[in-house]
Amino acid sequence: MMSGYNILVVGSGAREHAIVRALNKSSRKKNLYCLASNMNPGIADLCVELKVGEINDPGFVVHYAQEISASLAIIGPEKPLENGVADALWDADIKTVGPKKNLALLETSKTFTRNLLREYGVPGGPLFQAFVSMKGVDAFLKELKENYVVKYDGLMGGKGVKVAGDHLHSHNEALAYCQELLDRGGSFVVEEKFVGQEFSLMSFCDGESLKHMPVVQDHKRAYEGDRGPNTGGMGTYSDVNHGLPFLSNDNILDAKTINTATAKAIKAKFGEGYRGVLYGGFMATDSGVKLIEYNARLGDPEAINVLSLLESDFIDICLAIADGSLGQVDVRFANKATVCKYAVPEGYPGNPVKGRGIDVSGVSNQDGLFFASVDIKEGRLVESGSRTIAVVGVADTLAEAESISEKEISTVRGPLFHRTDIGTDDLIQKRINHMNELLSTF
Ligand code: AMP
Ligand code: GLY
Repeated sequence: MMSGYNILVVGSGAREHAIVRALNKSSRKKNLYCLASNMNPGIADLCVELKVGEINDPGFVVHYAQEISASLAIIGPEKPLENGVADALWDADIKTVGPKKNLALLETSKTFTRNLLREYGVPGGPLFQAFVSMKGVDAFLKELKENYVVKYDGLMGGKGVKVAGDHLHSHNEALAYCQELLDRGGSFVVEEKFVGQEFSLMSFCDGESLKHMPVVQDHKRAYEGDRGPNTGGMGTYSDVNHGLPFLSNDNILDAKTINTATAKAIKAKFGEGYRGVLYGGFMATDSGVKLIEYNARLGDPEAINVLSLLESDFIDICLAIADGSLGQVDVRFANKATVCKYAVPEGYPGNPVKGRGIDVSGVSNQDGLFFASVDIKEGRLVESGSRTIAVVGVADTLAEAESISEKEISTVRGPLFHRTDIGTDDLIQKRINHMNELLSTF
């Protein structure tokens, strides 16, 4: 048997590539394994084995974890969390980073989260009501007037949320969407719409203590200038001071307070602490920081920004999350700016091309290159229809980081496109102006 920690990473996108890289940098003796949904050559290079299998099936994951004598497992995506993979790993005495099924409700059920935060008095929530029928929907929409959002109560990859003015243009359209969700057998939440700038604050959490990561801004829209359909995220940036140019220190403190209060609330609710990453999606508004949603995992691509800056030992952090000793671990990030850009298939997200060859050999810093939805077919690297290749630029200023990531992503060959505007001075200035306008009319 090999010496050192046998560590299993579940998932095989760019987020998991970033996780595997960070684990690999640890000075601890380790053997890394990946249970994957696709052949990711970047992850495979760093692992003893990458096995393609049923990552969402708790029995399958536990069987593989036992086969490789894993002493630690790290779950990347949300679907295995929803299916109880963390519960099954803990039942098999395998320390796990990633919340159990009940605690992952923070991401998997919008109703659960809104009710939990209301019950425990966590600040930053919207006016909201949860519905299982059309009774009362019309009256609540009238109360919210033009500022409403309808959210399907479950995982829909960000596509279950419809926002007034964006996707819904009248109460009648909103009512029709609610009816559609009921017809599909779902329930839904109607809530107040916030106006402002979105940002993400992810915190490592061991059930008791939290260690916050630098805040990051994602770009959900597919096309330049924040136009087009929503995606999983086209790119992200973070600033040298671990803040963002449009946020005040108080905004960041408020987001930290909300994550801390949420961790406390969920522990009180279930009598068991949340062990994993608590990812708060926030909106800075004219009346302070508001909570849009929780995710129960690292963001993709946000993980690339923050893990590229991590100076502390990631295996130590993961063990401390699982053991409940995070309070004693040093969690430090470099004071650098990061800009991450994704290249995605032509036609993404609605009608992406699939299975076409791509070439990443022009990227000069291969350590800043992350493989996502790719595969190897007949010895050739191909894209598989979703976000494909991410690159990160890390530098002393946002402008330099942007220029690195733009230059690198432009060298990737294939039927792909990316957003050239992410992290540019122009787009960042627009964010700052938007925030200033909101604050001056308040
Ligand atoms: P979610 O799946 O909850 O993250 O929602 C997806 C996107 O919908 C978010 O990234 C926001 O852009 C938008 N959104 C969700 N809730 C709200 C809200 N209460 N006010 C404004 N925008 C929202
Ligand atoms: N980048 C958004 C997410 O990971 O959910």
